[in-house]
Amino acid sequence: METVLARVLPAAEIVPQHLHAAMRYAALGGGKRVRPLLVFAAGEIAGAHADRLEIAAAAVELIHAYSLVHDDLPCMDDDVLRRGKPTVHVAFDEATALLVGDSLQSLAFQLLAQDPPAQDAHKQLEMLTLLAVAAGSRGMAGGQAIDLDSVGRALTLPELELMHIHKTGALIRVAVMLGALCGELSEPERAKLDHFAKCIGLAFQVVDDVLDAEASTATLGKTAGKDAEQNKPTYVSVLGVTQAKALADSLRQDGLDALAGFGPTAQRLRELADFIVLRPF
Ligand code: IPE
Ligand code: IPE
Ligand code: MG
Ligand code: MG
Ligand code: MG
Repeated sequence: METVLARVLPAAEIVPQHLHAAMRYAALGGGKRVRPLLVFAAGEIAGAHADRLEIAAAAVELIHAYSLVHDDLPCMDDDVLRRGKPTVHVAFDEATALLVGDSLQSLAFQLLAQDPPAQDAHKQLEMLTLLAVAAGSRGMAGGQAIDLDSVGRALTLPELELMHIHKTGALIRVAVMLGALCGELSEPERAKLDHFAKCIGLAFQVVDDVLDAEASTATLGKTAGKDAEQNKPTYVSVLGVTQAKALADSLRQDGLDALAGFGPTAQRLRELADFIVLRPF
């Protein structure tokens, strides 16, 4: 993924150099790459080619990298550390960070439009639409809006679930779906994969909440304890650490159950479900 992203991102020597350097700073050299891994693992089930998968994986990761740059801005979570490095607005400046997000998002859609990630144009358009919805106000950006609106409020469990499904779940879900769409899949298989992705997408943010409360800044590569400090409602603040962990594990089990019929081609996806819930960072 690192190689693919290094190739598709404009070189830092190209004008405007400052923006291109900042885009590369934001997207390269860090992160767990969970969403690209999900694209590849779902593609394995659908018998997809690696050269198609790498385009879909890069597109999703670029959207994710953009969401992190904006999430860290002073007007949002106001964070100074990301992936073990100063955040983009700290290393560069705020206006550049804003434009980095804009440009990474555009590049994601450019990739999906330019390189054929699917056999036919109809499928390619479906992939573009799915990514647009997942990133937009009915997906990630909408979830971020709910997040900001929820500061200092006591959310109910259904409200919290709605927020997490949007801000984090939508992009994880689309990663799985784009991977599958790079290959061939029956409708029932698609429905099962989608259920899997919904479960682990929510589990991912539940675990992020737990790690924010329990792990160290050094381990996370981002400032620990931010959620409590900023008075954000999270699964930890609503359920407590023990119950939040139990919920993440039951979501993992639910997700794994949905993969029961797939056999050995789903092994990577199963391993990723385990990683998402059991990860230390
Ligand atoms: C962090 O995502 C933001 C959330 C959506 C919870 P990741 O934990 O995947 O961040 P990186 O990509 O590994 O840095
Ligand atoms: C961020 O959630 C979700 C997105 C970036 C869309 P958080 O604000 O909890 O992510 P971290 O903890 O800063 O990585
Ligand atoms: Mg946030
Ligand atoms: Mg944040
Ligand atoms: Mg967090």
